[in-house]
Amino acid sequence: MTAPTSPAAPIDPTTTDAWAELEAHHLEIDGSLREWFAADPQRAERFTHDAADLHVDLSKNLVTPRTVELLLQLAREVGVTERRDAMFAGAHINTTEDRAVLHTALRRPAGSSPALEVDGQNIDEDVQRTLQRVYDFADAVRSGEWTGVTGKRIETVVNIGIGGSDLGPVMVYEALQPLAQDGLEARFISNIDPTDAFATTQGLDPETTLVIVASKTFTTQETLTNARLVRQWLLTGLRENAALTAEQEPEAIAQHFVAVSTALDKVADFGIDPDNAFGFWDWVGGRYSVDSAIGTVLATVLGPDAFEELLAGFHAMDEHFATAPAEQNVPLLMGLLNVWNVNFLEAETHAVLPYSQYLHRFPAYLQQLTMESNGKAVRWDGSLATTETGEVFWGEPGTNGQHAFYQLIHQGTRVIPADFIAFATPNHPLKDGDQDVHELFLANFFAQTKALAFGKTAEEVRAEGTEGALVAAREFSGDRPTTSIMAPQLTPAVLGQLIALYEHITFVQGVVWGINSFDQWGVELGKQLAKDLAGAVAGDETAIAAEDPSTAGLIRYYREQRAQR
Ligand code: F6P
Repeated sequence: MTAPTSPAAPIDPTTTDAWAELEAHHLEIDGSLREWFAADPQRAERFTHDAADLHVDLSKNLVTPRTVELLLQLAREVGVTERRDAMFAGAHINTTEDRAVLHTALRRPAGSSPALEVDGQNIDEDVQRTLQRVYDFADAVRSGEWTGVTGKRIETVVNIGIGGSDLGPVMVYEALQPLAQDGLEARFISNIDPTDAFATTQGLDPETTLVIVASKTFTTQETLTNARLVRQWLLTGLRENAALTAEQEPEAIAQHFVAVSTALDKVADFGIDPDNAFGFWDWVGGRYSVDSAIGTVLATVLGPDAFEELLAGFHAMDEHFATAPAEQNVPLLMGLLNVWNVNFLEAETHAVLPYSQYLHRFPAYLQQLTMESNGKAVRWDGSLATTETGEVFWGEPGTNGQHAFYQLIHQGTRVIPADFIAFATPNHPLKDGDQDVHELFLANFFAQTKALAFGKTAEEVRAEGTEGALVAAREFSGDRPTTSIMAPQLTPAVLGQLIALYEHITFVQGVVWGINSFDQWGVELGKQLAKDLAGAVAGDETAIAAEDPSTAGLIRYYREQRAQR
């Protein structure tokens, strides 16, 4: 398989027949979820689909079968399938960086046929070779064969990275923590606020700590600064506690520091032996990289078997997205529903609400995936987007969110589509006496989507004995769109499926809007200005005076405060 050339200019969705029909349909659409469910006993079944191990009920969205038909027509008219196929085949669909987009290649099973070639290179072989190196390293650490410089077994793996080099690994580690090897833990440092490095290294023994510096570019200020801070912490600790000599320092770095990057030359410049570095490729976006060597911390602490299972889960969802008929293709349908919600129902945000404490970092992970991908006003040919684009993704695990922000989802003035995620079997043995607490927990999951969909009418409120002004306050309008995603259990495979599901949802939305979901130019200006401001922040009066009055005033306030303490 060789890469086709870059696909054509985006098709303006608002010029399609489907868009015009969707606009008319939106004005005509009548009824409520109560009415639609009453009129169509098959509605739940009609809108429920299985994708790998995920069981996805879309029936509580504000759509009729006609809406879905029109959305699928829209997908055909803007060429979602063609662009999907171009992505899987390695076309340079990341146009602004002239790169292929092949995170899906990272999870192709070994020996897949035909082999995937990109720009003349068999990348299946590259992927498998790197994975094997990661697994060998992980096994060496897990077995105790790889030790610290003083011969002690590694007990803590500290991953230093930010954005895609942090959020994915943290999220997966938290989600699958019960699988961590006894006596081996992971910690994560991301923020350039030195508090992060300070707090995370508290209580750690440098002799048993291994550091993974994870950075696709190996130029990221936060990561390199944190890597230097932790190197200093580690060497100081080893000098003080283990009488490390200056001559032993290179050996200490070799035993305690490894790196993951696409820029192995820069890894060497930092002082890490390239033999202790794991590579990946420019066709893997940072926010799509948890399944690359960026997951080395996961393979090490959770184990190569868990990591393989995670990759197999990703691949199962890739297969579903690539082959399931459009009418049952869950990422396609969910991406199109998001377009409906944003462009026709005027939703500005989208909540993701996992009913699993283990998934407490999943919404944060999705924020980078979705918002760095589709938070753009320019299309892949440089023209302006013709519609609203990327919505704000946010969320917290249930039931915590129920006691915080659900009020607004139930009774506020805004449409907030929400994805509810739950697992039938918990990953813990806890019971409250005879009470199965997981059932109590899931009763909340079922209750919330029911309340949001069907609400409570004024008559129902009155029938409960409420009168007067309180009736309106206790009324629930219903018709608040939700999607329910369930799976048998939160396993590595199911987690891989969930992540890949959202990757592909994000892709579908990007294609409809004509967005290149794989670049992130919007982060550059702030990075540049932070560098430019260094002199002013350090007190250079001429530099401060050259700033705009607001920025100059804030810097002066900062300098005064620092001078007083
Ligand atoms: O600044 C944004 C970003 O480039 C993300 O896209 C990326 O995941 C993150 O920074 C970290 O980049 P790197 O892995 O190159 O250090």
